[in-house]
Amino acid sequence: MLYLVGAGLVPEHITQEGLNAIKRADRVLLDAYTVPVDENSIKKLEEIAGKQLERAQRSDLEEGATELVKSAKEKDIAVITFGDPLTATTHVILTTIADERGVPWKYVPGISILTYIPSRIGLEHYKFGWTVTIPHTWRRSPSFYDRVLENRKRNMHTLALLDVGENPMTIPEAVEALEFWAEREGKNWDYVVGIARAAHEDEKIVFGKPEDLLSVKWPNPPHSLVILGKMHPVEEDAVRRFALGRR
Ligand SMILES: C[S@@+](CC[C@H](N)C(=O)[O-])C[C@H]1O[C@@H](n2cnc3c(N)ncnc32)[C@H](O)[C@@H]1O
Repeated sequence: MLYLVGAGLVPEHITQEGLNAIKRADRVLLDAYTVPVDENSIKKLEEIAGKQLERAQRSDLEEGATELVKSAKEKDIAVITFGDPLTATTHVILTTIADERGVPWKYVPGISILTYIPSRIGLEHYKFGWTVTIPHTWRRSPSFYDRVLENRKRNMHTLALLDVGENPMTIPEAVEALEFWAEREGKNWDYVVGIARAAHEDEKIVFGKPEDLLSVKWPNPPHSLVILGKMHPVEEDAVRRFALGRR
């Protein structure tokens, strides 16, 4: 059996169903690349789960996908991902390979950044348009920006996830990317919200003009950015709680 387990945003979010899968598994891999995770969180998760976690890199889960799924025919294998394992990841491929090979698999959901952010800052989930990822190659890849514009035309908010890798992108760089393309279009953006280390003890959320977010002292990634569309007055009251200098 192959278990795809969501750990949630912090180790304490893991569900009982997730812990049961880990307990049952002969091998437990931690997806260490779809979200920047600090060593303390990994240690804490190991403590909660009572098992050592094998760090898996992109090559283990993508190029090595078929091998991994094949081994789940004989053994129970759990792959743990921070957040939800099938949201903004490519792990669905593991489930299609498993189906092709007759390997049973189980999805164990986790709390995702995609639902946490609107709820945490008081924005209507219904009022978000496309979710985008701002890639490290933003200077030559405007497609994320096109989607932000499409959302704005519809008065919708955009959740921008930031690229991961060895140097995960930060909120100031995401603001730079947004302003770079906005200047070329002769536009500017009114308000944004930066969210760093959501749900962690050092979570930091700031609402303001894009340039206001450049001078904030942010904790380490993961970081995300919300580019606000037209807000309902109720949303506006909620989001203003995070205005610079208010907390
Ligand atoms: C590829 S997505 C994976 C999302 C994950 N599967 C989930 O369901 O939450 C990774 C990006 O999500 C955002 N992210 C994930 N966890 C976050 C957190 N705790 N705080 C802020 N942003 C976060 C960051 O932009 C990060 O680079």
